[in-house]
Amino acid sequence: MSTDIYDNIRKHESVGRAFLYSLFGEEIEASATGSYMTSSSNREFLNWGGYSVFLLGHSYPKIVQAIQNQLGVLPLSTRAFPHTALKQFHVQMASMAPIEIEKFMLLNSGSEAVEAAIKLARIATKRSTVMYLEKSYHGKTQGALSVTDSPIFRDPIPNFVTQTQKISRTDSEEAFSDILSVKPAAVIMEPIQGEGGIFELSQEYCQKIRDACNQVGALLISDEIQCGLGRSGELWPSVRLGLEADIILLGKALGGGILPVSAMLATKSAFQPFDRDPLIHSSTFGGNPLAAAAAAATLSVISENSIPDISRNMGNILKQNLNELASDYPDILEEVLGRGLLLGLKFTTPDKVANFMQSCVKSGLLLTPCLTTPSVVRISPAATMTSQEINKGLDILSLACKEVIKN
Ligand SMILES: Cc1ncc(COP(=O)(O)O)c(C=O)c1O
Repeated sequence: MSTDIYDNIRKHESVGRAFLYSLFGEEIEASATGSYMTSSSNREFLNWGGYSVFLLGHSYPKIVQAIQNQLGVLPLSTRAFPHTALKQFHVQMASMAPIEIEKFMLLNSGSEAVEAAIKLARIATKRSTVMYLEKSYHGKTQGALSVTDSPIFRDPIPNFVTQTQKISRTDSEEAFSDILSVKPAAVIMEPIQGEGGIFELSQEYCQKIRDACNQVGALLISDEIQCGLGRSGELWPSVRLGLEADIILLGKALGGGILPVSAMLATKSAFQPFDRDPLIHSSTFGGNPLAAAAAAATLSVISENSIPDISRNMGNILKQNLNELASDYPDILEEVLGRGLLLGLKFTTPDKVANFMQSCVKSGLLLTPCLTTPSVVRISPAATMTSQEINKGLDILSLACKEVIKN
């Protein structure tokens, strides 16, 4: 059966994708609950990867229930009128969002939220250029890719539709003067870069960028699709950094690990063009009842259970243990990066990463690579994991270090 599925992927989807899957053994995902995914051969995998989607683990009961309730009455709407799940989402989000952020637009994928933000900023400012940070990742649709700093993803495209320009992620003076001279529509940034190697922007850097945006009337877009909603130990990473974002983007965890949902949130003043003309931006499935119910339930679980605090405390414990691991294996591990449950293991050389990840999968632990920073492996477990699961994951990481040293 597994060969059959892989053959079909090779034939009908992509030879390269089938190859990528097969690097970790030809397993098939069959079911998932809590911190575990179970394959069709009955192997259990502890999920510390999943591209940071599973902040609440798999199949969180309250979210499953909310989706099932909605499924039973109105899964999709005609879009002639609003539906009640939207109000649940609006009320819940309004109770949690930074005070000046009061406009919410539900969309489907992270890239779609990035596209909406770029479009809104260009319309609102009547300017073309969007500036982005080196080593950024904002998605793979044309607009999102045009603000993504990754040659492996960008180089196949002959040219981009959106005018963009890159700024330094470390030299705040240089970034400041670049923004002043370009006068862009917006600057887009991830408070903690995921793909870019779990790289945390400094408070000093962020304030300088905010200052530059204020001086030239550019909007500041905080892409919290990966690091937000508690993943990195804070509900709103941009707030800790004093970014005072005009637009905040959410995705990944917003669907509760069950449905694909994203959102573009904005201040009233940034959102004005879309406020005036509701047809200027829309999406057939954006804000559909199932997605809205999932997002509302997810936000309420995050808020009621203080998930950002849990993530921060669990992250501290995990980071301390990972630092000990790094000091036990200095020949392969250079540094432990990140905060909360968005952590990274930086290897001394990128060639050790594939062996390390393969060894982890063999022992039943899933991790996520950083495709544009190949020397870093992402660790993004669920805030719902037990201390037993933390110990199990740490044991597997330690075993994988031993195996990499041996080879
Ligand atoms: C920070 C960030 N922005 C945007 C995206 C794109 O999201 P999606 O893959 O849902 O389009 C990602 C995905 O990894 C991301 O990490």
